[in-house]
Amino acid sequence: MKLNDNTGKLYYVGGCVRDEILGKQSVDIDLCYEGDAIDYVTAQGYKIIKTQKNIRTARALIEGEEIDFASTRKEIYPEAGHLPVTTETGCPLEDDLTRRDFTVNSIAKSVKTGDIIDPTGGAEDIKRQLLRVHHDKSFIDDPTRIIRGLKFSLRFGFEFDEHTENLKADYLNNVNYDMSYSRLKKELVDCFNLNSDEGLNRFIEEGMYKLLTQNKPQKPLASIEELVKEFGIQTPWLIYLGSTNLSRLALAKTETKIIEGFNAIKESGAPYKICSKSDIQSVILWTVFVNPDKGLHYLKNLREVKPSVTGEELLIMGCKGKQIGNILDKVQEEKFKTPDMSHADELSIVKSILNKNKL
Ligand code: CTP
Repeated sequence: MKLNDNTGKLYYVGGCVRDEILGKQSVDIDLCYEGDAIDYVTAQGYKIIKTQKNIRTARALIEGEEIDFASTRKEIYPEAGHLPVTTETGCPLEDDLTRRDFTVNSIAKSVKTGDIIDPTGGAEDIKRQLLRVHHDKSFIDDPTRIIRGLKFSLRFGFEFDEHTENLKADYLNNVNYDMSYSRLKKELVDCFNLNSDEGLNRFIEEGMYKLLTQNKPQKPLASIEELVKEFGIQTPWLIYLGSTNLSRLALAKTETKIIEGFNAIKESGAPYKICSKSDIQSVILWTVFVNPDKGLHYLKNLREVKPSVTGEELLIMGCKGKQIGNILDKVQEEKFKTPDMSHADELSIVKSILNKNKL
């Protein structure tokens, strides 16, 4: 959609300008108005869907699309590592740009003229593939920028410049654990959903794990990247962090279940049986962090192995209730040992179990 602006004060900012300079398609468009965005959207006659009065943002419906308009703003971090507090809206554009994480994300493009406003040399840093923070307290204010840096490095091949790298190392040697872990979780999810073995290696080797724990995580024994591709895992971040202490993150129920499944497989004397009842991510975790040989054997050869004998057949043979599940489990265990077992073989296993039970 083509936006029209007659004021000359509306700008594209952040990731979408960076991506355009890189010649890449951007998913999100961030718009910033140098002034009051709610007044602007009202004056333009756009249909307003939602506003956030304290920071003067407005969501408008334009040609069927929902578009967010932010006001330029200044922020401070009264509590290091927590969410920032807005101290002024409608400030000069340059102040809004320099409150951001890296110079490469601090470039604006005028909607009206297409002019680039780049007060801190972000376009040059994009060319040199460098990530530079605006000031020495940047990681103290917002430590999640360290993970954002890793994300941009994996996506675009950007690296921290020497001074920023030193600031990162200093911070990681002195982490303040009183931080916004929901913000950190979002960045970890984005970063590790990129599915990169190199990303995890750097997370461990460069000490970025210290944002979560002082204990160095175990490195994987097999490629997570390849298994994720092979088994089509869409959001693999939790697999990457499977050997990192995540107690500081609030995990969703489904995420906790994946970790619990992993622990259950690890602790079981009959791991394949637990694998067959677990999420595939739990199985991959066990494979890469505990037992690649058995894990790969399960994933490649046994995952589709299921008994062909059915509950109905067992009912006809006189089995009842819980007994049916127990017998099917036993048949499944035998089938893991001999995957090409025939239906008749399965039935003889059932019969021998029933005969034993009679004795
Ligand atoms: N930003 C920041 N510090 C953060 C998060 C965001 O300074 N911790 C700023 C950056 O200027 C960033 C913009 O807000 O460009 C938008 O944030 P976000 O959508 O998270 O990042 P993008 O740079 O747009 O990256 P992506 O392409 O992953 O969306």
